[in-house]
Parts: sequence; C-alpha cells; structure tokens
Amino acid sequence: MKKKKIISVIGARPQFIKAAPLTRKLRQVYTEKIIHTGQHYDRNMSDLFFKELKIPRPDYNLGVGSGTHGEQTGKMLIQIEGILLKEKPDLVIIYGDTNSTVAGALAAVKLHISVAHVEAGLRSHNRKMPEEHNRIVSDHVSDLLFVPSRIGMDNLKREGLSDKAYLVGDIMYDALLENIKIAGKRSQICRDHDVCINDYYLATVHRPANTDNAKNLKNILQALSSLDLKVIFPVHPRTKKFIKHHNLKWNTDKILMIDPIGYLDILNLTLHARRVLTDSGGLQKEAFYLKKEVVVLREESEWKELVQYGWTRLAGADRSKIVKFTVGNFKKKPFFYPYGKGDTSEKIIQVLRKFL
Ligand code: UD1
Repeated sequence: MKKKKIISVIGARPQFIKAAPLTRKLRQVYTEKIIHTGQHYDRNMSDLFFKELKIPRPDYNLGVGSGTHGEQTGKMLIQIEGILLKEKPDLVIIYGDTNSTVAGALAAVKLHISVAHVEAGLRSHNRKMPEEHNRIVSDHVSDLLFVPSRIGMDNLKREGLSDKAYLVGDIMYDALLENIKIAGKRSQICRDHDVCINDYYLATVHRPANTDNAKNLKNILQALSSLDLKVIFPVHPRTKKFIKHHNLKWNTDKILMIDPIGYLDILNLTLHARRVLTDSGGLQKEAFYLKKEVVVLREESEWKELVQYGWTRLAGADRSKIVKFTVGNFKKKPFFYPYGKGDTSEKIIQVLRKFL
C-alpha cells in the first residue's frame, strides 16, 4: 500500500526544535516532506538547528525572510498553496504560534487538506501578541489539536474545540531529553565565556512588547546590568536592531552580549545558570525541565502551571521587580510533570495512525 504523505511546515527557530523529535518517527510510517518558509534565515537561527538536531534537509525553502506580518504571512501563503497543489498531501502539520504556523494552516484548510497543530490550545489572553492571533486562527481551522497541558485542553473546551483535542504533552521535552547529554559533552559555551556553575544569569529578550518599546527595553537592560552576577545575553536579531534604533545605554561591564546560539549551547547555558530571565515561552519550560527558576519578562504566560507552582515569576518589564525576583527567594512546590514525560512524539504518532 502506498504510504500516506505528510507535509510539515516550519520556519522559525522554536519550530525546528519542535519538529525534530517528530520528523524521525513520522518517516518510519509516512512519507514526510518539509517546507521551510525561511522566516528565520541567519545561520545561527536556522542551519545550525537543522545540523544539531539532525533534521532532514527541507524539500522546499521558500526564502520568505522578514517583513510586516501581512507581507510575511501572505508571501508564505501563496508559495505553500502552490506546493500543496503539487504534492497533494494527506495531512499538513504545523507547529507553535508563528506566522509560518498560520500560513501553513490557512493554505491547507482552503484546499480541504487536513491540518494537525502541534502545541495547540495555548492562550495568553493578550490580543496584542501576534502569536495569540496565530494560535487562535490555527486552532480553529485545524482538524487535530495536539495539546501540551490540561489548561490548554480547558481553553479549547471553552472555544468549542474539545472534539479535536488530544492531550499529548510538550514535544519540546522530547527534544530536551534527547539532547541534554549531548549538550553536556559537546557544548563548550561556559568555558568560552569563562563562566562556571551558578555564577551567572542567562537572559533572552525578543518579544515585540519588550523590544519595540524603548522604555521596556531600557528597563530590562538597566535591570540586567544592576544584578549581583554577570549576565549572559544571546541577542536575538530583532533585539539587536532595536537596541541600536532606540540608542540605548547601560552598564556594559555586567552584561555579556553574544550572538544567537544553537540548541546545545542554550541547553548547557540554561543547565548551569543561577537563574534564567526570559520572555521566551520555550526557554521558560526548558529551564523548568532543568530545574531552574525563571523570571519571566512578561505580564502573563501561556505556561500558567509553572507560575502557579512558583517555578516562574512574572516581572514584566518592571525594573525593580526584575531585580527583586532575580535575587530573591522563590517559594516553589516540588518538581512536577505538567507537560508529560517526554513521550509526546510517540503519542502524536498513535493518534495519526488512527486518523490517516
Ligand atoms: C518569531 C515569532 C515568535 C517566536 C520567535 C522565535 C511570529 C509573529 N513571531 O519572532 O513567535 O517566538 O520567532 O525567535 O512569527 N531576523 C534576522 N535574522 C533571522 C530572523 C529574523 O535578522 O534569521 C530579524 C528580522 O530582520 C526581523 C526580526 O529579526 O526584523 C524579527 O524576525 P521575525 O521573523 O519577524 O520574528 P521574530 O521576532 O523572530
């Protein structure tokens, strides 16, 4: 019998991490082809992840690059539609909440091709976030919703989407478990930057609410530069652009700004950091899986369980809160498993076997 065909649409850094554990399993059962939209295109934001995570070469690279939301998403939609018409897949898989996610979802649904959304059901309830629009649209047009958490299942229930929802856990945990030992052996990042276990903080910032707003970005940089330990800060291209654009100044001795780094290096830096400060959703969980406390540089989080259990604290871009939380005590409950045990890709395959 001819194998069923699946097209996976990816394009931004976190999607490479999410797709990696699943692509291997998919290819044991189905014919899988990968479309890389080209939303992220720098070597350190894209190629490095394919190499480290051993993701097969994309069959299509759309080279869409940067642009306004409409422009970027529109370009993707046009090209993905052409490929789907040619390839006629049985299913399209989309990941997370980026513009590449929603473009893949819309292109497929309009051609009556089934869509599966990995990391469905998350809501920040902040309608100003581009990711929130992408999540809502993608979930509503998808046929299968692979949900990481019970709170995600509840969100989908409220929106009348329970029938298509499957609680499978967090696929990023699969990726982390597969790679953490390799990171320990291969990553030299701590030595390269002359830091040791627990003697630095790791910080990342890339959300538009923090980068595009000069006051917020300034508050964050000033908070980072007044902490008691050195801060290692891999700088996202968006953030780099806005630091220059806003012409910001801070105490440069305290913050070590470095170029974006690969998956193995970020795992290793997270594992050894005293604490992590971030506005990234993925890093909040990776830090938690490595039993690190996180100061979240946002007012809300999609990973609410971690806030409720005291593993993460929401500081927004408030300078004094960031400092107070980072150096203060976290009153947290013992480690728990709110997002499964790292067997998400296997659970997804089981559902797909019934569906296709
Ligand atoms: C995107 C996602 C976000 C995700 C993040 C992970 C959307 C709406 N946002 O945000 O949900 O958390 O990826 O990083 O899809 N740039 C480069 N080189 C690159 C990629 C981007 O220089 O390889 C620059 C672009 O010029 C652009 C900026 O970074 O100005 C932002 O890139 P963009 O793709 O718009 O979104 P992200 O901020 O990365």
